Amino acid sequence: MNQDEKKRRVALAALEFVPDDCIVGVGTGSTANFFIDALGERRHRLRGAVASSEASAARLRAVGIPLIDLNDAGELPVYVDGADETTRERCLIKGGGGALTREKIVAAASKVFVCVVDDTKLVAQLGRFPLPVEVIPLARAQVARALEALGGRPVLREGFITDNGNQILDVHGLSIEAPATLETAINQLTGVVTNGLFARRPADIVLMAGDSGVERL
Ligand code: A5P
Repeated sequence: MNQDEKKRRVALAALEFVPDDCIVGVGTGSTANFFIDALGERRHRLRGAVASSEASAARLRAVGIPLIDLNDAGELPVYVDGADETTRERCLIKGGGGALTREKIVAAASKVFVCVVDDTKLVAQLGRFPLPVEVIPLARAQVARALEALGGRPVLREGFITDNGNQILDVHGLSIEAPATLETAINQLTGVVTNGLFARRPADIVLMAGDSGVERL
C-alpha cells in the first residue's frame, strides 16, 4: 500500500471520533486534507469547523463546511491532525507545513486530540525530523544562537512566512530525550512564538495506518 493510501485510510478512521452536530477542529497537511475531504461527504452532520491554517480553511470552504472562529466556538470535542513524527507515548513533532502555532492552539482548545499518521512517522525517539520553531523575525538570530547552545543546528526556512507573519527555524540534530522539558525550554526563549514539540499536551489518540490496517497507539 502506498503512503497516500495509508493517509487516506487513517483519515477515514478518524471520522468515528467526530460526534454529530459538533464543531470539529481540523489540522493541516496532506493527511488532514484527506480528513477534510471525508468530512465534506458528511458536512450536513456538522455545525462547522475550526481550521488550524489558512490552507485548511480554504479547503474546508471548498467542500462546503462552515468555518467558525475559535473564539466563538468554546471547547471543541475533538481535533484531528497529522504529525511529522510520533512516539508510542504519543509525543509528536509537528510543523512541517509551518502551521504549528495555530495547531497547538486548536489542540489546546480541544477535549480530545486524535493524531492521524502513516507508519513512516513512528520513531523510538523524536528528532530525526528537524524541529520547527516559529520566531518573531526581529529575534531570529538571537533565538538561533540559543538553539545552537541547546545542541541544535537551526536552519531558516527560506521564503516561508507563517499565517501569523513570522519565520520558521528548522532545528536539525537535536537529541530529544526529554521532549516535554525541551518543549518548555525552547518556549522560554524570548522571541519564540512556539515550537513543534507536542509533549506537554501530547495526542490523546494516535491512529497509525500500516500495510495491515489502522492501529491505535
Ligand atoms: C503542519 O504544520 C504539520 O504539523 C502537519 O500536521 C505535519 O507536517 C504532517 O503533515 P502530513 O500529513 O502532510 O505528513
